[in-house]
Amino acid sequence: MGVIAIDGPAAAGKSSVARRVAAEIGWTHLSSGMLYRAVTWWLLKHGAGADPGQMELHLNLGPGGLELTVDGVRPGPELSSPEVVAAVAETATSPAVRDLVGRHLREAGRKFNLVCDGRDIGTTVFPDAVLKVFLTADPRERARRRLIQADTLGGGASPVERDQALRAQAAELEARDRRDSLRAISPLTRAEDAVEIDNSGLNLDESVAAVLEKIEDRFLGA
Ligand code: DC
Repeated sequence: MGVIAIDGPAAAGKSSVARRVAAEIGWTHLSSGMLYRAVTWWLLKHGAGADPGQMELHLNLGPGGLELTVDGVRPGPELSSPEVVAAVAETATSPAVRDLVGRHLREAGRKFNLVCDGRDIGTTVFPDAVLKVFLTADPRERARRRLIQADTLGGGASPVERDQALRAQAAELEARDRRDSLRAISPLTRAEDAVEIDNSGLNLDESVAAVLEKIEDRFLGA
């Protein structure tokens, strides 16, 4: 089985790009951030002192790709709730949590050809990935995408309000990137052998095409 690793900072479009790339090449998409969010969600429910080892986490292949269940339940929008978003970077610093998530990711990597996105996929989880992409975009562009995704860059807002919202979101993303980059274990960092794609000026189709081009280069030896 092979792995294509797509790492990079928050809101660079990793999951959207990885999902589309996987569909194009017939591989399976796995978002590692989703697992960190799921553990965070479970810890918020069970108390920060709870042992995540007690959690029943499963990844099963369904019609739409890999489906996550936590204690038999498939979490949905809860994984993007403000509570989970606020707590996940902290949860992801826990060695026990990283170990747990890493084991699930590697198990999936033994069963499927994966396009796996995250922060440390090419550096720590799958250092032997057949292709490593480091996907970035400048913070203001990432903030714009995040606000559009959350539908809060509303038509009713004035230019000043929109600018304020963008600045606040960019600051929040930069703070999260800093936390992800500075943590002791598996920090967000570009693997030496990763190809970097800055997609600030690219839309989703163009970002997908840029990754597919790298895949062709890698496999066709161009
Ligand atoms: O990609 P995302 O926004 O869903 O990730 C959520 C959080 O999980 C993010 O703050 C960093 C953490 N994460 C990580 O530490 N390592 C990964 N491989 C993926 C995500």
